[in-house]
Order: sequence, then C-alpha cells, then structure tokens
Amino acid sequence: MRWYTPRQVEDGAALYAQHCASCHKANAEGTPDWKTRDANGKLPPPPLNGTAHAWHHPLDVLRTVVRRGGVPVGGSMPAFDDKLAPREIDAILAWVQSHWSDKIYAIWHERDLAAGGGLQAIRQ
Ligand code: HEC
Repeated sequence: MRWYTPRQVEDGAALYAQHCASCHKANAEGTPDWKTRDANGKLPPPPLNGTAHAWHHPLDVLRTVVRRGGVPVGGSMPAFDDKLAPREIDAILAWVQSHWSDKIYAIWHERDLAAGGGLQAIRQ
C-alpha cells in the first residue's frame, strides 16, 4: 500500500517531464557518476529512481528539497516553491516513488514513520 493514488502518479509524470527531467533524466535515472563533483565542487543531478539516496529522506524532507532547491545548502538545484503548488510537488514525488521497488519503498516508509511523516493526511 503506497501513500499516493494512480491519479497523482499520472499528474506527476507530466509535471516531472516539464520541470525535472532535464536534470534528473526521463526515467529519474539521473547522472551515472552522480557522486563525482564537477570543477566547481557541485554534485550532478542524482538518480531519483531508488538507486541513490532520495529514499533516505522522509516525505517532508523531499518536499522541502524540491521547494527550496539545493542552493541554500551549497548545491545547484533550483528552488520550485514559486513554480509548483504543494499538490503538484506531491504528485511529482508520487511519480518519483512509483519507480521505487517495494523493498526500497518499505524501508523508506519505516523511516518516514519514524520521522513522524503525516502520510495519511496527504492522500488526495
Ligand atoms: C538544474 C538541474 C535540476 C533540476 C531542474 C532539478 N534538480 Fe533535483 N537536483 C539537482 C542536483 C544537482 C541535485 C543534488 C543536490 C544539489 O546540488 O542541489 C538535486 C537533488 C535532488 C533531490 C535530492 C536527492 C537525494 O538523493 O538526496 C531531489 C529529491 C530532487 N533533486 C528532486 C527534484 C525534482 C522533483 C525536480 C523537479 C521539480 C528537480 N529535482 C529538478 C538538479 C536539478
């Protein structure tokens, strides 16, 4: 059982393609050498498909990353709080998480609960 609906995944697919795919790639596969910093010391866009560490973060942290971007913490991802509504960010995260295996999702879910994640409240 996942927190999101098929409708959210569908909405998220289009929004992801528009706002995120240029960096994180069409299927959220990211950059192959995402752990190697560039000449400016910045990390390339990581995979979001469950193979890197997006799944280490509770839902609220993922939302915050998308809203604020990485610049405030020394990264290069742009902020989206002026471009995407909260429900659009949730739809994108639903699409992203639909790429995670059941095993990865289950571990993430435990972590999210441990972090007090309000999963019940956000089903739309
Ligand atoms: C201009 C390129 C760019 C765009 C566009 C972009 N990102 Fe990122 N993203 C990055 C980079 C680079 C990082 C690594 C941290 C940093 O440098 O800010 C990152 C990190 C992340 C992380 C943290 C991953 C982790 O393993 O901790 C998430 C989640 C994420 N992005 C989601 C998104 C979503 C969702 C969108 C679309 C709404 C998006 N990004 C658009 C470049 C981008």
